[in-house]
Amino acid sequence: MQIKVITVSDNERKSKPEDESALRFGELFTDHMFLMSWNDKEGWQDAQIKKFEPLQLSPAAIVLHYANEIFEGLKAYKTPENHIILFRPRKNFERLNNSAERMVLPQVDIDFVLKALKKLILIEKDWVPSSPGTSLYIRPTMIGVDPFIGVRPPSQVLFFIILSPVGPYFPDGFKPVNILVETKYVRAVGEGGTGDAKCGGNYAGSLKASTLAKKKGYAQVLWLDSKKKYVEEVGTMNMVFVFEDEVVTAPLDGSILPGITRDSILTICRDWGYNVSERKLTITEVVKGIKNGTLIEAFGCGTAAIITPTGSLNYKNNDYVINNGEIGGLTQKLYDYLTGIQYGLIPDEYEWTERVI
Ligand code: PLP
Ligand code: COI
Repeated sequence: MQIKVITVSDNERKSKPEDESALRFGELFTDHMFLMSWNDKEGWQDAQIKKFEPLQLSPAAIVLHYANEIFEGLKAYKTPENHIILFRPRKNFERLNNSAERMVLPQVDIDFVLKALKKLILIEKDWVPSSPGTSLYIRPTMIGVDPFIGVRPPSQVLFFIILSPVGPYFPDGFKPVNILVETKYVRAVGEGGTGDAKCGGNYAGSLKASTLAKKKGYAQVLWLDSKKKYVEEVGTMNMVFVFEDEVVTAPLDGSILPGITRDSILTICRDWGYNVSERKLTITEVVKGIKNGTLIEAFGCGTAAIITPTGSLNYKNNDYVINNGEIGGLTQKLYDYLTGIQYGLIPDEYEWTERVI
């Protein structure tokens, strides 16, 4: 399929941020987007790069009623040599196809959408920020658009990619955050649910708990499983708990999102000789470990959140402070190493990055 390109005129271009170091997350979008449509008779068609502008949708569009929506999140980084690189982008499109499978949406051709993404970024290359801690956030999205309000799988679909120059997801950047362990609401229900799909509904359903947590001064909630026993993940990141003799994270059992940052960190930790476990971990074990000093660090990890140290966990109205509320040694080492690869500052031994230019 050809990709038609219609660029905006110079006077339609938006002004770029004056102070990149003040960029916040997810507020600003570039001039163009990639868009293609699908229907169940002809498959994918009309691939184009065009102006970033509002979509025209019927008020009956199926996504507006039943949340037939999946998305991805990855980033493009500027290197000191002014190259633009992507971090493990194929993994994101593989996960998009897994989410599509779960939500009865069509599969994309990974080589094609990756080619489209690179073409879009090349057109928008001046939007990739270079200040420390900034990047170009990439949001591939798929929605069902049939104007039909019966419940059935979409027969008309839109796929688009939009780009947003961003700063840190948490306003304070790489600083420990305090997290509330959620004991009333759940995000996912384990095997058979939609917890491991990146679908919008998972996030809409999580907002009640995170809004209440924010009112109490916590950055996000730590979700437990549906029986409120095992730790799962945080709203926008997977969680890693560092014990004296073991690095532990929740297993990929269908309830949590299989994070690409999580996978990268586990690979690095194994190569660094840590005893890494993907296993069920009870909240009681976590609290006990903090109390007796065997749990020495905890952090969240994700594309938007990068690596975010956990300063404390509040469980049943008690605050449990981890590592005196400071960034732990392994957390810092992993942050430096991972962001070093992502920004092209150190050799990419794993061949995780892909050049756009
Ligand atoms: N868990 C959830 C619920 C997320 O939204 C994210 C972010 O994408 C992650 C985990 C981390 O995934 P990744 O490292 O692929 O960004
Ligand atoms: C990401 O880390 O890319 C995410 O998708 C988190 C997001 C919901 C902001």
